[in-house]
Amino acid sequence: MNRRNPILAAIMACLSLFSLTLPLQAFEGKQKPEVAGAILFRDKGCAYCHGPAAAGTAKGPSLANVRKSMKTSQIIDQISNGGQKMPAFSDSLSNDEILQLVAFLRAKHRPVVPPATQSAPSPSPLSNPAQ
Ligand code: HEC
Repeated sequence: MNRRNPILAAIMACLSLFSLTLPLQAFEGKQKPEVAGAILFRDKGCAYCHGPAAAGTAKGPSLANVRKSMKTSQIIDQISNGGQKMPAFSDSLSNDEILQLVAFLRAKHRPVVPPATQSAPSPSPLSNPAQ
């Protein structure tokens, strides 16, 4: 009986560590809309035109100074209704998501999120019917 105790203790320690980190992650997710916004920026096509770090491409201008040059309401309007070349996103983003993007664009220190994992090409034999 006594010999099992250290193992049990180790398991309990692991379990309690695990259960401690879970609420922490949930807490962080809730507290940081700009992180959610950074992920949306990457995944909803913004980065395609504005660049992964919002520094601009041939398709869209740099958004580096948006924090100073645009009011929150103007950013919301631009994302919702688009512009001359930018598409409107009011159909594809919820209000919450638009606000998260605004939080990201207005953050003093914008969070950097890793590139999406699906960017790594993984050729599958099924997707190539020519062979
Ligand atoms: C198809 C390319 C394209 C996509 C996708 C796109 N944009 Fe744009 N964006 C532009 C262009 C071009 C402009 C310049 C104004 C115009 O022509 O609409 C612009 C302007 C802006 C501006 C105003 C910048 C300024 O200084 O006036 C903001 C803010 C912005 N985009 C945010 C976003 C966000 C957030 C997303 C993703 C939800 C996004 N854009 C997706 C092309 C794009």
